[in-house]
Amino acid sequence: MTDKYAVIGNPIAHSKSPLIHQAFAKQTGQDISYDAILAPLDGFEATIHELIKQGYKGVNVTVPFKFKAFHLAKELKERALEAGAVNTLIFNDESILGDNTDGAGIVRDIELNLGIPFAGKRILLIGAGGAAEGVLRPLLACSPDILVITNRTLDNAISMVKKIEEQGGYRFGSVNACAFDNLRGQAFDIVINATSAGLTDASLPLPETIFSPQVLAYDMMYGRETPFMAFARSHGANVADGLGMLVEQAAEAFYVWRGVRPETQSVMQQIRTLS
Ligand code: ATR
Repeated sequence: MTDKYAVIGNPIAHSKSPLIHQAFAKQTGQDISYDAILAPLDGFEATIHELIKQGYKGVNVTVPFKFKAFHLAKELKERALEAGAVNTLIFNDESILGDNTDGAGIVRDIELNLGIPFAGKRILLIGAGGAAEGVLRPLLACSPDILVITNRTLDNAISMVKKIEEQGGYRFGSVNACAFDNLRGQAFDIVINATSAGLTDASLPLPETIFSPQVLAYDMMYGRETPFMAFARSHGANVADGLGMLVEQAAEAFYVWRGVRPETQSVMQQIRTLS
């Protein structure tokens, strides 16, 4: 019998997850279906319970439900607990298990696909919302030299740093918060945009001095050139969007559900050709 999976969000029509998971299933010979489901903004929990009733085995969760999924899960994998957000749910007989594969996705994309290891590097993480929280610990676990968090609302970046310190910051190396205004004169190897500013085509008040041909400017958004990407490119940086991360987090979720790790390069190419 075909095992059913889905991605749940609002909006959801633009999601590439069905294409990606269907490609993984074909490639690995797994008998699954995967569709995109729109949940009402006030109806995430009801939608999940309905899917469980219908025999679904698991779902991916996207904007704006990752925190709701965290609270709905009855058990959490450690990486989901630390991130405080869930992007993958696994439905077992009596339980709902929450996981978060976003961090593994970005690490695999930058280290393996783009060939840039984080160890010993200076990282600037822009943003202090759910997306930034989801990737912070996996990035720190790669032993960068330093990780600086900057954000429009500086207090939110400071809170993230405090939370890390409370969780035993020494484990994670050096983490600081910094206002946009104070970035001038600082140098980074990898600059990651984890804000949602690109959704509204808003640009970020970054000093152009942080970009150069030695810098990777990575936007976690995909599907279009954001003002962040255009700005970094115009100042010589190497630029990447989040499509690789999307495919890698999906591969990690597929592995969690099915115990089989799909090959990702060909799927990335396929999705790029279609978009
Ligand atoms: P997500 O789950 O995508 O991270 P979120 O939790 O709402 O969404 O967080 C959005 C992030 O994008 C925040 O860091 C937000 O900055 P604030 O903390 O100051 O709100 C950032 N952001 C959104 N729009 C922005 C803009 N136009 N300029 C700068 N930062 C922006």
